[in-house]
Amino acid sequence: MSMQQYSNYTSEDFAVWKILFERQVQNLPGRATAAFMEGLKRIQFTADSIPNFEETDPLLSSCTGWELTVVPGIVADDLFFKLLSEKKFPATTWLRKMAQLDYLEEPDMFHDVFAHVPLLTNKPFVDFLQALSKIALRHIDDAWAIELLSRIYWFTIEFGLIQEEGGLRIYGAGILSSAGETLYSLSNKPEHRPYDVATILDTPYRKDTFQEIYYIVDSYEALYASIPEIEEELAKRIKKGTVISLS
Ligand SMILES: [Fe+2]
Repeated sequence: MSMQQYSNYTSEDFAVWKILFERQVQNLPGRATAAFMEGLKRIQFTADSIPNFEETDPLLSSCTGWELTVVPGIVADDLFFKLLSEKKFPATTWLRKMAQLDYLEEPDMFHDVFAHVPLLTNKPFVDFLQALSKIALRHIDDAWAIELLSRIYWFTIEFGLIQEEGGLRIYGAGILSSAGETLYSLSNKPEHRPYDVATILDTPYRKDTFQEIYYIVDSYEALYASIPEIEEELAKRIKKGTVISLS
């Protein structure tokens, strides 16, 4: 695996990080899950400094035993789920350019690190992520099973909402790294549904636009507790011999 080349960051990189960080830190109170806001403090990210993984890893590891693994970009499913099953979160180290603040074709470090890492300090959340990855590894040669499991990943880890005492909150990193979707996801424009494993397994998703549906969990413990149901519902859909879709 490669390393983060911290000395290679340019002044534009630092400026991009600062703009994105300050904008989201303004947006997130009262919108992001309490676990993210606490995690952000524990992991000590700031506007003025691009996270240095040598500093982030010990902080993260002391919370949950997780660490970061540098990847160049999107990695193959087998490597992705293998890393997650070993408590290693694959993260890019490059930042988008100033001209691309709001549009990206694939995740950069603001998404992978700012939006994902704070929640990796939360034990039930990472237990869910690890258990989901272990299921995926067991089905890694079955493209249909991986497609179904990727729907669970998508509607939770990337685009999940949680019902907290103070109200509806965001925990999905795909939302937390987008200023626009942070506001949109909690508005009355999209559909909000209760988290339901069977429904999610039967719901394809789109990558090219804001989501039309978000699923709401009651707690991270409930998410983790749904792992046996994910295995059962997945098994039904594989056995049925559902038409294979590679979309
Ligand atoms: Fe992500």
